[in-house]
Amino acid sequence: MRRFPAAVNEQIGREFAASQQYIAIAVYYDGETLPQLAAHFYRQAVEERNHAMMLVQYLLDSGEPVEIPGVDAPKTVFEDASAPVALALEQEKTVTQQIAKLVELAREENDLVGEQFLHWFLSEQREEVASMSALLTLVQRATGSNLLLVEEYLARTAVGEQGAPEAGAPAAAGGAL
Ligand SMILES: [Fe+2]
Ligand SMILES: [Fe+2]
Repeated sequence: MRRFPAAVNEQIGREFAASQQYIAIAVYYDGETLPQLAAHFYRQAVEERNHAMMLVQYLLDSGEPVEIPGVDAPKTVFEDASAPVALALEQEKTVTQQIAKLVELAREENDLVGEQFLHWFLSEQREEVASMSALLTLVQRATGSNLLLVEEYLARTAVGEQGAPEAGAPAAAGGAL
């Protein structure tokens, strides 16, 4: 296998791992009776699952082998209510670097179709890093005082949904959820 499709296969695992981590964070907030924060991360989990399935569809369309990988267990214990969002922000920054590396690899192998496919992921990462750092600011401000302010804010404002370029999103294998 060329290095680029092999690396796309690895990214499928990372997107599924991100999805599992967001489910774990959603369940943590649900357990703390913070339903808006929980809902936010349940939605993010579905988005990450869709990213994985877009990569699967890309490999299928390219006639490349697809290996659906297992994922490591996510972190489920957090020291306070802002820790999950800090972890999520780190995760999004890491994924941004991973996608940038994939673009580099596509260029090295002169795979212009592969590079063009990844452009949507680059703008998606810009949006996700920005919305996650906004959420971290909010949650850090409220942790230790009143997290219900974050709940109220999330109920009124669609954090992470404004400007999401879903219209031009690549097709997901089996359809996006
Ligand atoms: Fe993702
Ligand atoms: Fe993400």
